[in-house]
Amino acid sequence: MSNAKVYVNGEFAGEWPYGYASFYIDATKFIKFGEKNLIAVRLDNKEKSSRWYTGAGLYRNVRLVYKNPVHIVKNSLFVTTGQIGNNAAVVRVKLELSKPEGAAKVEHKILDNLGNVAAFKELSNPVEPAQINLPNPKLWDTKTPNLYTLQTSVFDGSGNLLDRLDTRFGVRSLKFSRDGGFELNGNKTKIQGVCMHHDLGPIGAATNVRALKRQLGILKQMGCNAIRTSHNPPSPELLDLCDEMGFLVQDEAFDEWRYAKCENGYNKIFDKWAEKDLSAFVRRDRNHPCVFMWSIGNEVNDQHYADGAATARFLKSIVYREDGTRPVTSGLNSLEAAFTKSKLAQELDIVGVNYQTKLYREYADKYPNMIFHGSETASTISSRGAYYFPVKRAVDPFRGDYQASSYDLETASWGQTPDEEFAALDSNPSFLGEFVWTGFDYLGEPSPYNPGTPARSSFFGIVDLAGMKKDRFYLYQACWNPDVKVLHVLPHWNWPDRLGQCVPVHCYTNYDKVELFVNGKSMGVRARNAGRDGYNGRYRLVWDDVVYQPGEIKVVALDKDNKALQEKTVKTSGVPSKLRLTADRDKFDADPKELIFVQIDVLDKDGNFCPRANSFMFVEVNGAGKLRALCNADPTDQTGFSSNYMKSFNGKLLAVIEPSNTPGEITVEAYGMSLVPSKIKLSTGAPEK
Ligand code: GAL
Repeated sequence: MSNAKVYVNGEFAGEWPYGYASFYIDATKFIKFGEKNLIAVRLDNKEKSSRWYTGAGLYRNVRLVYKNPVHIVKNSLFVTTGQIGNNAAVVRVKLELSKPEGAAKVEHKILDNLGNVAAFKELSNPVEPAQINLPNPKLWDTKTPNLYTLQTSVFDGSGNLLDRLDTRFGVRSLKFSRDGGFELNGNKTKIQGVCMHHDLGPIGAATNVRALKRQLGILKQMGCNAIRTSHNPPSPELLDLCDEMGFLVQDEAFDEWRYAKCENGYNKIFDKWAEKDLSAFVRRDRNHPCVFMWSIGNEVNDQHYADGAATARFLKSIVYREDGTRPVTSGLNSLEAAFTKSKLAQELDIVGVNYQTKLYREYADKYPNMIFHGSETASTISSRGAYYFPVKRAVDPFRGDYQASSYDLETASWGQTPDEEFAALDSNPSFLGEFVWTGFDYLGEPSPYNPGTPARSSFFGIVDLAGMKKDRFYLYQACWNPDVKVLHVLPHWNWPDRLGQCVPVHCYTNYDKVELFVNGKSMGVRARNAGRDGYNGRYRLVWDDVVYQPGEIKVVALDKDNKALQEKTVKTSGVPSKLRLTADRDKFDADPKELIFVQIDVLDKDGNFCPRANSFMFVEVNGAGKLRALCNADPTDQTGFSSNYMKSFNGKLLAVIEPSNTPGEITVEAYGMSLVPSKIKLSTGAPEK
């Protein structure tokens, strides 16, 4: 990241300016075989090149690849699948060889997920496209993401192996239509997606598979089934995980085309590099079953200019040339300009609508043959565990403490609350679904508190910068994940400053009816889909007139005969007195890449969570690991992530631990003034091969 220039033994060997692109350089002619060689990469990430935090330096994997002169050209192999009859698939493979005349035979083996050979094909003409019948294919979908590996081997005339390449793929069908929506393997699937930037909060932008896996795991619990890689090519590791964990991916290439958003943004290199970037991107990612749409752009300013349609056509032709099995989309934030000024929208297979819920109906009616989806929705803002009064729908609030309210009613001026978006989609069923802005908070873009304020990271996340769930998580989970019975109540019940005043209580649930009790006294039953106006009794249940008294609030989910099904209590806590440390899993590899995420909760002496505790503490890590980062997810906290002290934010702090290579015991200890020191012991073992 970015403007990479590669030098081998002091000689310029190649360059690639786009910091998100994967690229390779043939270093053969610069290498001194049998001697020591020096490879250097110069990076120059200019200021004013991005609207969010990009990271810098070598932030994705770099590899030296040693090949026979006769080899499969990088990213030339393309595997596609089709169905034949009910219980067989045809797998088509094409590839390019660097020196086809040097090869005599190509062999393709299809291995199932246990490594057994499921199909086999041998070709004596090595560049001939292959068609392989795969009997009884196990389909890839978001619940059971079955994968196959195509193992391709190239031999010379004497049977010597020249190259071997493993390519993972899945058998699945995609269908998009105006009436049928999106169908995955013939099953109608609503897109319940989130947009994600690439940074990993406190550990920065460098790819870490464990941290990505943790993010996806949390989103999966929520019922999220799709990721939009806003607004740039993701790391290949993210796509591998989406293949394995069952997420659909809208793979996005650009945030800018010819017209600038940032002074040093992609517009500067579009004319020279767009073709190379887009084709390299599609060729790199096209074998991933998770990728289901290509997005050629996000809110590009070209939508306002006459040449916008021609640029879209040019980009679409590149995608079609390299793939042709998936539709092309782009996120538009001005439907009016994109349909009438530039006519860029008409070039798209699927129109991506960013926000503009009020226009969903009008444009769907006006363009009855076009397919639409909410490529970017909500932009609701909140700070985990922070609540403000009076509770009301608000746009771009500006508070002295630079926070946003977790009642989930505050948005950017162009945004919607989650409930408003659910309602818009429910009344426009031809829309394929949505990608919420954003799944996780990210570094940069602290709207509405932009430059000149202490805020340095976003408020948009459903999950905060440390990976801790905000209230909103449960609002989405209640609508998106039918496998989980959700009963979540907010706010917390520590309001000594509001004695006798009103503290509205909201419940995010997928139960039909819920009764609220305050210190044992019923505040009434609320039913879902009661269709109330304002902030909407449809998707959340609201008790507006609750008067605060310390004690407890309890929500009880009821069936139609008013029998209790589940209950949840939130108690007023006492002063912070001790800490609870919890690791994100219970088996740990002695591998520095296998980060361990330890959540620290501040508790009172009786073990109740202290929801307003901003307790200063130190974190000490000893033994077979070290402290990598701390993060409280307070968007305004400027303490360095790599320090060993930080305040908790609304009762919580995250410690990221990096195990060493040697198996052993790691002790993580947290302590602070008036807090009983607390520790957790973690044992790492040798990683399984
Ligand atoms: C959108 C934009 C995103 C982000 C978001 C914040 O318009 O596409 O990148 O800036 O607004 O609400």
